[in-house]
Amino acid sequence: IKIKIIDREGNLHEIDAPTDMNMNLMEVVRSYELAPEGTIGICGGMAMCASCQCYVKSDHSLPEKSDDEEAMLSEAFFVEDNSRLGCQIHITEDLEGLEVELAPEES
Ligand code: FES
Repeated sequence: IKIKIIDREGNLHEIDAPTDMNMNLMEVVRSYELAPEGTIGICGGMAMCASCQCYVKSDHSLPEKSDDEEAMLSEAFFVEDNSRLGCQIHITEDLEGLEVELAPEES
């Protein structure tokens, strides 16, 4: 599926994300190297670091946040109403056209 990702420098990337590889959005960002190594996915996708935080700009209805995701976002910096943890967003067909912006680095 095509998704749009705005990196931390404000550059828009339209990329192809596979739906058949059980990937999440954080892994997609890493595989396209849209954020420097070591600045995203620090906890390995366990909803424990918020380095993968992103803002959902399109009006896709994403699955509800898990308790772990809610808890992490309640402690993270730069959180907005449309914040999600990229590692908790699984790439599925219904996310075609998704647009997200990476949140700033916390440190
Ligand atoms: Fe750590 Fe998503 S990679 S919360």
